[in-house]
Amino acid sequence: MRHFLSLKDFTKQEIEEMITLSLDIKKNLKSGKRDLLLNGKTLAMIFEKNSTRTRVSFEAGIYQLGGVGLFLSDKDLQLGRGEEMRDTARVISSMVDLVVMRTTSHTRLLEFSEYSSVPVINGLSDLYHPAQLLADYLTMVECGKGENPVIAYVGDGNNMAHSWLMLASIMGFELRLATPRGYEPSVTIYQDALSFAEESGAHIVLLSDPREAVDGADVVATDTWTSMGQEEEKQQRMKDFKGFCVNTKLLSYAKDDAIFLHCLPAYRGQEVSDRVLEGSQSVVFLEAENRLHVQKGIMVWLEQKIG
Ligand code: CP
Ligand code: NVA
Repeated sequence: MRHFLSLKDFTKQEIEEMITLSLDIKKNLKSGKRDLLLNGKTLAMIFEKNSTRTRVSFEAGIYQLGGVGLFLSDKDLQLGRGEEMRDTARVISSMVDLVVMRTTSHTRLLEFSEYSSVPVINGLSDLYHPAQLLADYLTMVECGKGENPVIAYVGDGNNMAHSWLMLASIMGFELRLATPRGYEPSVTIYQDALSFAEESGAHIVLLSDPREAVDGADVVATDTWTSMGQEEEKQQRMKDFKGFCVNTKLLSYAKDDAIFLHCLPAYRGQEVSDRVLEGSQSVVFLEAENRLHVQKGIMVWLEQKIG
């Protein structure tokens, strides 16, 4: 069974297929045509963490494709009372066609998918956020930044940084990833990215100077300094990330027509200034809307290839 847990499990061609599908589905929706490509299908949506974009885009997306989504919070499932993941996976997957799961640890997602008889989509884990990165790539393509872009990611070496490493290294892009010392991405994921880069021709650099990363970039991206589950580290992180805010000064080192991306939720005055977030280079709300179109592309692709 093939799942959508990390972009590392997909080829460049497969990622492009999902983007093309998402663009077609978006175009049809905008012209008033309904693609009932998942008519009668059921998507289980297991969430162990908060969500606005991921939840709404998957639930609205499956409905628009003719199917139904079941929102299952861990507070309601027996999972929250200690039922084993492998039992939950076998039961739920025997009743639905697809599963999206947002979990506290990637290991839990791997355990669920090992026992699932239907495709499982990662709706964010501590290691990766691959559905977000496809929406980011779609946004880049729509903004004319899909061909050989130079991407600067400034911030925490977290699930978003890991996902940028995967996208850039598979697609052959240049990625400069600047983090404060001590907040670098996982060494294993960085090494995976370097080995993909050997094949794709990608150029991947880790830096600790945000300005060096942003200099001449086509795309500037960031994410929260304090991810879900790290709340008790917030005060320390606010100190450690000083100088990593994407403000107008930092963005001015990028190309004049560079775009600014942020997966949201954003914390103005921390990782991004209000002026940048609300400014003309920011495409964050297009990026958020694209979650809807991309979730549909991923679900349809999985059903066509695997279902
Ligand atoms: N970007 C993103 O995944 O947002 P949510 O946490 O609101 O789903
Ligand atoms: N890195 C953030 C992304 C939120 C969409 C988190 O994991 O909380």
